[in-house]
Amino acid sequence: MPNKRIQIFDTTLRDGEQVPGCQLNTEEKIEVAQALESLGVDVMEVGFPISSPGDFESVQKIASIIKNSTVCALSRAVEKDIEVAAEAIAKAARPRIHTGIGTSDSHIFDKLKSTRENVLERGVAAVKYAKRFVEDVEFYAEDAGRTDNEYLAQVIEAVIAAGATVVNIPDTTGYCLPWQYGEKIKFLKENVIGIDNAIISTHCHNDLGLATANSIAGVANGAGQIECTINGIGERAGNASLEEVVMILRQHSDLKFDTGINTKCLKSMSELVSTKMRMPVQPNKAIVGANAFAHSSGIHQDGVIKSRETYEIIDPLEVGVDESSIVLTARSGRAALNYRAKKLGFDVPREVIEELYKQFLVIADEKKVVQDSDLIVLFSQTAVKTA
Ligand code: KIV
Ligand code: ZN
Repeated sequence: MPNKRIQIFDTTLRDGEQVPGCQLNTEEKIEVAQALESLGVDVMEVGFPISSPGDFESVQKIASIIKNSTVCALSRAVEKDIEVAAEAIAKAARPRIHTGIGTSDSHIFDKLKSTRENVLERGVAAVKYAKRFVEDVEFYAEDAGRTDNEYLAQVIEAVIAAGATVVNIPDTTGYCLPWQYGEKIKFLKENVIGIDNAIISTHCHNDLGLATANSIAGVANGAGQIECTINGIGERAGNASLEEVVMILRQHSDLKFDTGINTKCLKSMSELVSTKMRMPVQPNKAIVGANAFAHSSGIHQDGVIKSRETYEIIDPLEVGVDESSIVLTARSGRAALNYRAKKLGFDVPREVIEELYKQFLVIADEKKVVQDSDLIVLFSQTAVKTA
């Protein structure tokens, strides 16, 4: 059986852009949108057009430029929101409206001051209204993670009957455990009449650090789309990170899922978003962090120098990182020192390596990370320059 194709829905320019301090101007958003298109995302959610004239304008511009990815605009289950979203994406080659409403008791009773029946009716009405403008309508059941499964199934069944092409099951507060989220998706698969007429989407937040794990549990139980952001940015602790979910599906070929992502663009995509949004990437961030392919302890360095796979499960070239790096610190060993000497064009005779290593440790204790410039001075004393 061929692998199942999972749709990658990027929401860096909507959920990601909600992060305080990460707002972009229209030109910057266009640059990010074009890079996302080259990365190969199936869908990009590029804004919430009713929220401001600036957001409307950037969604409109992006919609007229992007040709290969579906361009999606967010709305609440409110007619005016839907009209403005439809107008903003009118020129898109592949337009999608993303509309929805809160379905957990907390959202229904505390936020919306409503009832379950009324929320279901509003969701259905929003989907029907959006269908007047576009064929492709995605419905989100906000806070689905904390929504009672029986009621969630009723809402999802009703919105699919109303024409929703994609049903988004957000874990808005990042509350679910991976098996709970997986069971929720399975429950919908098994209990919603017409579920095969729509794609189930995951949209997992990272409040407990489980966004990526929950997204994978979602697709393992029948979801066909993952909503995620570059570097995992988004409201509060962020969303599932695109680079993580994509590389998990790729590395675990036993899961039998494919995405259309050009993984060699992941590192540059991460740098672009980080720079434009003024949001540094933590060095230990999986896949794209500065240390993701850096080895600093002597034991690890010795292993990696002998065979990269001893301590790396991903070839850095696959994600657009030139090579693994051996960082020289006071925890490094002789193998790493010798390796770096060769890289810098020095041949270190066996009899001097011990002495050089002692001197290296003194520098390392003082400087923490030993740079090539320090090493060149050190090697020049005794090593033979070969190149
Ligand atoms: O987290 C969430 O529930 C959302 C919806 C608007 C899809 O971002
Ligand atoms: Zn969200």
